[in-house]
Amino acid sequence: MVNVIPSAGHPLFMERADAILLLQEHVVKESLIAHCRATAAVMRATAEALDEDADLWEVIGILHDIDYEEVGGDMQRHGDVGADLLLAAGLGEEVAGPVRRHNYVKYGDTDTPVDTALTAADNISGLVIACAMVKAGSVSDVTAKTVKKKVKDRAFAAGCSRDRIRRIEAYMELPEYYALSVAALQGIKENLGLS
Ligand SMILES: [Fe+2]
Repeated sequence: MVNVIPSAGHPLFMERADAILLLQEHVVKESLIAHCRATAAVMRATAEALDEDADLWEVIGILHDIDYEEVGGDMQRHGDVGADLLLAAGLGEEVAGPVRRHNYVKYGDTDTPVDTALTAADNISGLVIACAMVKAGSVSDVTAKTVKKKVKDRAFAAGCSRDRIRRIEAYMELPEYYALSVAALQGIKENLGLS
């Protein structure tokens, strides 16, 4: 797919590679960078399924936790600091808004497609990676059926919110979402250190 590069002034004038570079200026932990890449891959696939702007949604996914190390566990600042940083970097509210609001503990659940998709992707990405880890790091061996089973097992990857994942049902069926999430992560498995 050819990425359209919007001109300066467009809310998204940042390509995927530049977004990753920006992320790496603020985040050093490899596992966190992998989490952001995984969330971004699910965001792109979700946007494609919903006929939304896949380039934009992918960049939102890459950048959503850009402030995570900076806020150092202060969840009252998480999201706000990231959004401010992105606005200062010249990105628009189209990117900064979902990043700010994905802190649903602070902002509550919002119903826009992009906000719902981001909080769902944030959680399903971790769950799919956890599924791969119990298969010796092989995401290739994970299926939508594996995910469905593990979603029901509340003790498994307990930090991944099932409620946030299920909110995607407003836009698509869960089996479709599990399948596209697994395929998205399989598509970038080398970037995630998985096979
Ligand atoms: Fe995240």
